[in-house]
Amino acid sequence: MTTKLLDSKTIDIIKSTVPVLAEHGKAITTRFYQMMFTNHPELLHIFNHVNQKQGKQQQALANTVYTAAQYIDQLETLLPAVKQIAHKHRSLGVKAEHYPIVGEHLLLAIKDVLGDAATDEIINAWGEAYGVIADVFISVEQEMYNEAAQKPGGWDGFREFIITKKIEESDVITSFYLKPKDEGNLSSFQPGQYITVKAVIPGEDYTHLRQYSLSDSPDKDYYRISVKREDRKEEIPAGIVSTFLHQQVSEGDTIEITAPAGDFILQEKEKRPVVFLSGGVGQTPMISMLKTLAKKNTTTDVTYIHAAINSSHHAFDEEIRSIVNESEHMSYYVSYEQPTAKDHQAKNYKKEGYVDLPWLQSILKNNDADFYFCGPVPFMKAMNQALKEWNVADDRIHFEFFGPKGSLEN
Ligand SMILES: Cc1cc2nc3c(=O)[nH]c(=O)nc-3n(C[C@H](O)[C@H](O)[C@H](O)COP(=O)(O)OP(=O)(O)OC[C@H]3O[C@@H](n4cnc5c(N)ncnc54)[C@H](O)[C@@H]3O)c2cc1C
Ligand code: HEM
Repeated sequence: MTTKLLDSKTIDIIKSTVPVLAEHGKAITTRFYQMMFTNHPELLHIFNHVNQKQGKQQQALANTVYTAAQYIDQLETLLPAVKQIAHKHRSLGVKAEHYPIVGEHLLLAIKDVLGDAATDEIINAWGEAYGVIADVFISVEQEMYNEAAQKPGGWDGFREFIITKKIEESDVITSFYLKPKDEGNLSSFQPGQYITVKAVIPGEDYTHLRQYSLSDSPDKDYYRISVKREDRKEEIPAGIVSTFLHQQVSEGDTIEITAPAGDFILQEKEKRPVVFLSGGVGQTPMISMLKTLAKKNTTTDVTYIHAAINSSHHAFDEEIRSIVNESEHMSYYVSYEQPTAKDHQAKNYKKEGYVDLPWLQSILKNNDADFYFCGPVPFMKAMNQALKEWNVADDRIHFEFFGPKGSLEN
């Protein structure tokens, strides 16, 4: 990675002002988004409005800029983090021409919040530093755009797909089978990757973009996504896109999606046992990984552990069971948080309550495995803590957030 060189004075200014900016981080980024969306309302077609309201995205962007600024003279150390964000950006259609808009408004917001304390010297230094950081993102993303477009069956931007099948998997999860409307080839993907759906909802001023993991193996002539309906809960409004897909999109309809992206993928070069831990709809990337391993007649041990509220919420039970039953190397364990009376009778689960370390230790011989987890944030925090307590090395812990990446510490 080659980056533009900043002079030592600029680097000193940046490093000494990072703590000041970080202290005002939330105020600066809140102001930044207000000003940017006022001047560029077209960006509201790209950004997630609900994440904005919840402040999640503000924190994610601000923290990354400050961390990058802190490491401005050794940005290559941040490359893995940059790549993860770049996958998301590529999947959303963030382009080089968007970066100056973000940069301009970030500087305006810094000036606005810090007032006279933000001298010209400081603002110029941050302008230069932002340029260096943005160049790194732009070049990593450009490579990703080229790769996605040049792959066999690949494409650039959004492509129209027909919903060929819509299948209810549980009371809350429905799968959508997608085939290209142009009847062209379908690019392959790595199990665990996601696509972005562009929802054009009647009556809405803006398009809404959301990511969905591909829930079937890559060797099919369709993509499958499986979406949990986020219902209204008291004063909390229902999820915009999941409700739209469940209630307004039917077989035969067209939706637009971007090419598969993401770095939460099966580490196939490792020959270690594999453990999948999923909560609720968090199992979608794991099913793709499990099916891929099954196709290859894996001889490594694979343990699929899933937590659901109960059988009415539990999707893919039969699908997983039939895959696992075909292999002597695969096993499957289910925990229900609140089993129904029917579940008690059928004994269709192994544990009542949450997945915890003692249960994991009773299932697995030892901690020598690659662990993959995904699910609601409290589930992910609990899995992370359990694996850390069991001394599982960081490089064997792989996870995906179904939202902006947050902290897994309690
Ligand atoms: C990499 C990745 C992969 C993903 N894969 C999947 C997948 O395979 N399947 C899947 O179902 N999802 C997946 N998701 C999540 C998905 O992208 C959406 O976030 C999800 O469908 C909710 O979108 P929505 O538009 O329905 O809800 P939104 O409208 O975005 O709302 C999000 C949540 O916030 C609540 N909410 C709305 N307004 C407020 C408010 N003012 N205050 C507090 N809460 C509020 C809603 O009820 C909802 O639960 C994935 C996400 C990522 C990042
Ligand atoms: C150097 C500049 C930038 C940095 C450091 C940055 C950082 C981030 C981070 C950390 C995330 C969260 C990733 C995750 O999901 O875990 C994110 C998501 C996102 N970024 Fe950027 N970003 C930058 C520039 C841009 C630009 C130029 C645009 C387009 C105008 C953009 C649009 C988005 C969008 C739409 C998301 C998705 C999240 C949401 O909508 O809530 N970003 N970015």
